[in-house]
Amino acid sequence: MPASIEVDSNPDDAVLSAAELVRRLQGKRGVMSTGTERIDAAVLDACPALKAVCNVGVGYNNIDVEACTARGIVVTNTPDVLTETTADFGFALMMATARRITESERFLRRGEWTQTGIHDHFVGPDVHGATLGILGMGRIGQAIARRGALGFGMRVIYHNRSRLSAALEAPCRAAYVDKATLLQEADHLVLVVPYSASSHHTIGEAELRRMKPTATLTNIARGGIVDDAALARALKEGVIAAAGLDVFEGEPKVHPELLAAPNIVLTPHIGSASVSTRRAMASLAADNLIAALGSGPQAGRPPTPVNPAVLSR
Ligand code: DGY
Repeated sequence: MPASIEVDSNPDDAVLSAAELVRRLQGKRGVMSTGTERIDAAVLDACPALKAVCNVGVGYNNIDVEACTARGIVVTNTPDVLTETTADFGFALMMATARRITESERFLRRGEWTQTGIHDHFVGPDVHGATLGILGMGRIGQAIARRGALGFGMRVIYHNRSRLSAALEAPCRAAYVDKATLLQEADHLVLVVPYSASSHHTIGEAELRRMKPTATLTNIARGGIVDDAALARALKEGVIAAAGLDVFEGEPKVHPELLAAPNIVLTPHIGSASVSTRRAMASLAADNLIAALGSGPQAGRPPTPVNPAVLSR
């Protein structure tokens, strides 16, 4: 980092309270944030020196981008560097959910595996050859589609705000369908949509009831896309077979009925957590911050701005 930039960091790897965040940001021109720090209008008003908010993550629903733009503050995120790692994880979570990996592991660890050869022990739906449904066909959705189609011979269907170009659809071997068809036909539905007020509870009771009773649902997008209480009820009542969740409404808290459900795989928001990808994300966020503050080879041109119009003012 150039000597001209002074750095204050949070070495404890613990989440700062809003008040502590504001206190630490006094006089600071830039902040490198993670999804757990809410940077809203109140924080911005209390920290008038801020010129750049650089998130470590592709999602940035923790930041009020409109409020930043109105104040001439550039916001950046870390796209691309985490695509393949997060797609690996989404696929792994979907497979673990379908094949009941953690449920059967808990059974074994409890010492309940006392007989071998039970024919229908922990049977689950197949992944290969099944229909993979993807809601949200951005970079990560496309990478999951490629894994399903090319690696596992799956039929891939997707729904997205807009249909992909033929050039993007072809390598994914994916067919665009409306949301109702996606819900009805997917054997394994994976959610990769960004969170916003309009995607809140995209999957609730009505949507779950449209799915097959044998289907699985995997959410690696954001908490709040799924109505967690409705999902807990659906799992209990056998509306769908199983779920895999990496993200939760109100995380790190998890709905108690999800914690209690046997037919669910739960992970603590680790979709992009491979060693090299976490390094690449931190490095890209640092490059954004240095450039946004006017230093380094890309001074004034952070590589991945979310609100680039601010830069040309
Ligand atoms: C992302 O990049 O958005 C991941 O969810 C990590 O926060």
